[in-house]
Amino acid sequence: MTVLAVIGGQWGDEGKGKIVDLLTSRARVVARFQGGDNAGHTVVNPKGTFRMHLVPSGIFNPEVTCIIGNGVVVNPKRLLEEMAALREQGISLDRLYVSEAAHVILPFHLLQDELEEEGRGQISLGTTRRGIGPVYADKAARLGVRMADLLDEEVLLSRLTYLVQTKNAVLTHLYGRSPLLLHDIYLEYLEYGRQLAPHITDTRRILYQAWEEGKNILLEGAQGTMLDLDFGTYPYVTSSSPTVGGACTGLGLPPRAIQRVLMVCKAYCTRVGAGPFPSEEEGEAASRLRERGHEYGTTTGRPRRCGWFDAVAARYAVELNGADALAITKLDVLDEEPVVRICAGYRLNDAVVWHVPHSLLLWQSVTPVYEDLPGWQCSTREVRALEDLPEQAQAFLQRLEELVEVPVAIVSVGPGREETIIRKALF
Ligand code: IMP
Repeated sequence: MTVLAVIGGQWGDEGKGKIVDLLTSRARVVARFQGGDNAGHTVVNPKGTFRMHLVPSGIFNPEVTCIIGNGVVVNPKRLLEEMAALREQGISLDRLYVSEAAHVILPFHLLQDELEEEGRGQISLGTTRRGIGPVYADKAARLGVRMADLLDEEVLLSRLTYLVQTKNAVLTHLYGRSPLLLHDIYLEYLEYGRQLAPHITDTRRILYQAWEEGKNILLEGAQGTMLDLDFGTYPYVTSSSPTVGGACTGLGLPPRAIQRVLMVCKAYCTRVGAGPFPSEEEGEAASRLRERGHEYGTTTGRPRRCGWFDAVAARYAVELNGADALAITKLDVLDEEPVVRICAGYRLNDAVVWHVPHSLLLWQSVTPVYEDLPGWQCSTREVRALEDLPEQAQAFLQRLEELVEVPVAIVSVGPGREETIIRKALF
């Protein structure tokens, strides 16, 4: 019996979807614990290619119960659309449950996200404009609407009445926009509640029971450690906790339930949106990584910023998450590189440091200290065992392990399930 958390060790888009999909064959429950439809997971399996935003990647295994936990923020319209698309491809959604305590993204959250981003001008964060910041802000301010509220006419009306009034005051007075119509929102969301009712439940209990029964449970992180609200490159972060602590508060599982943490990192780094990224490349190397790695956002289609593996940030992520194994994804994207670089330290003023800075100002002033390793310049796509990798690729992975101080358990060499090297079983 294992409760395994799969956490992003970089700035999101590490390929967690594929790793979760791979590991679900041994899991009985897969649970999302934070974020919303700002996340985008691409899953390629024998049933097809799927782009998921909210539904856990475990949905393709008929024996797996999938949970959208209380820490997730749900846009019900988008969830229903995603469910309909999956159903159309023959995937059953009978085992999908949404926490009654998950907060609901409402139309003004999307509008607010957009207006606030525009208002920030030069210092905009580059959000996905999915209403994530505003909905988490309302949750903390205790103004929010939760999934259970969609199931009760009176409760929904009373929660919405005050909230819409407050939002309309801001929309009309601060932004000069027309007010939103309470009744329209009420009717629309009541209908979403009606459609989602069979799925809305106390997900904490399902998880607790599964844990007590000794079932394998997989906790699926969205975004990545460097986007964590507290420990990321604030303010260029998301508004949730993608680190392992978020799994406890976002699901109601006690910390001692989580026995293993698998941290997923790409063999290089990417970031979408603004903010510090010390090992970023801007020239030809970035274009090569972007094109070979198809580094365009699943959610927004934006080209991702690309650079080399950042071992300083990865080591920090290991400490924060207590990671005990690494999954290195997209190794094949480096197949043609004559030289592969690893950022092994940061230069800050005249010194070289091995830890991440504590302020945005310092973050913005560090420059990478690279170790250059010879590339392997041949395809790794067909390789299925670590020792069959070209010598240089083995040396690259070994150096990552040394710098990050955690063993590599999985290496992904292509998008398909079979394009994977499994060194150590995690369940
Ligand atoms: P938000 O989560 O939409 O508020 O966006 C805040 C920051 O997190 C922006 O820089 C986004 O690009 C980034 N972000 C949010 N979700 C993801 C994701 O799933 N992958 C990568 N970056 C993300």
